[in-house]
Amino acid sequence: MEIGIDKMGFYTPEFFIDMEKLAEVRGVEPAKYTIGIGQEKMAVAPLSQDAVTMAANAALEVLDEEDREAIDFVLLGTESGVDHSKSGAVWVHRLTGIQKYARSVELKQACYSATAAITMAMGHISLHPERKVLVLGTDIAKYGLNTGGEPTQGAGAVAMVLSANPRILALDTDSVSMSEDISDFWRPLHSDYAIVDGKFSNQAYLNFLADVWGEYKQRNNRDLSDFEALCFHVPYTKMGKKALKALTEQASEEDAARLMGYYEPSISYNKAVGNIYTGSLYLSLLSLLEQGPELPEDARIGLFSYGSGGVGEFFSGKVKPGYKEHMLKDEHEALLNNRRELSIEEYENILQQALPKDETDIELDVLETTSGTVVLKGVQANIRHYGKN
Ligand code: HMG
Repeated sequence: MEIGIDKMGFYTPEFFIDMEKLAEVRGVEPAKYTIGIGQEKMAVAPLSQDAVTMAANAALEVLDEEDREAIDFVLLGTESGVDHSKSGAVWVHRLTGIQKYARSVELKQACYSATAAITMAMGHISLHPERKVLVLGTDIAKYGLNTGGEPTQGAGAVAMVLSANPRILALDTDSVSMSEDISDFWRPLHSDYAIVDGKFSNQAYLNFLADVWGEYKQRNNRDLSDFEALCFHVPYTKMGKKALKALTEQASEEDAARLMGYYEPSISYNKAVGNIYTGSLYLSLLSLLEQGPELPEDARIGLFSYGSGGVGEFFSGKVKPGYKEHMLKDEHEALLNNRRELSIEEYENILQQALPKDETDIELDVLETTSGTVVLKGVQANIRHYGKN
């Protein structure tokens, strides 16, 4: 029985900034951000969009009545959780109208957790093939103003329906993962912003990639010639390029050219959104499947997931014939093209806004938010109120 990704939804907030304009204000050569980092635009989340609302909006794009009845597991991967106890998945379960007899759980391990969710979903579906699982990767990447990480922020969510006989990507059962306790990037409980050792984090990412890929090749007796394309966790698009270069260093000319050929379509969405942490690898996959040429039947895609701290995994899947018919390319292009550009001053104001850290009630101004999307309306008596705008 094949198990894999049957549907893919995506949401990113309605605001973005232009990286060249950010560079100008920061006194940095614009090419550093657009070429050196490889980012063109960066999504900015207003206070009314958080990990819960973005995940719900991504899921609402793809769920139909049949899915709502068949889904009995909602797995939400995030490192931007809004409560120490209640999982964001419980709110998403209600906001998306999934039938009551379902489990709803939140998973955390930096940018990696949506990949763990996929593994859990595969196990569940293999035991209950008639059931479906909703997997979400949703985050707001925040390093703060005037920090080294500032040009690598972003916000958004990817929602995936996993099922038997999937129509987009049948996942292989070949994955190799590894864990190692390192301090390259983390966010202490007291902080709204991530702390990062930037250069070390880049090196850690590449070390994990080399290690899991080496082990994967050995265990599965595969090499790069077995892959039509590769997708990576994309904290910023230059990192994806570094990863691809590292893997193809020893490859034949033919393999290297083929894999490099898919790089641009695989980062098209990431370039316009920035880092969305748990969803970044899946945004790259979505970008490849929607913006790339039709992949040959049964083409195998290799995927590298990395979450600082750290856990890495290399796994793969084969595209299903006719997968393009099940992608929402026009909708995702419209989502990105209809956003409003913020001035750098507006962005700085939004980035510094935060919900009260005490018991004060707050009602949020959500007038600017696109109608029909799920928003955080406010907090009363410490309870967050979500609903459609
Ligand atoms: P930095 O020190 O500002 O930048 O930090 P730099 O000096 O290293 O320059 C960046 C690149 O721009 C360099 O290219 C420069 O040469 C180039 P590279 O050597 O890397 O190929 N450059 C230029 N290019 C063209 N024209 C110019 C120019 N000037 C310079 N004029 C850094 C960059 C990414 C470290 C920083 O932004 C940062 O700390 N970001 C956050 C950390 C991060 O994203 N790490 C990625 C790996 S860890 C990971 O992926 C996990 C993560 O997603 C979190 C999670 O798991 O939850 C982050």
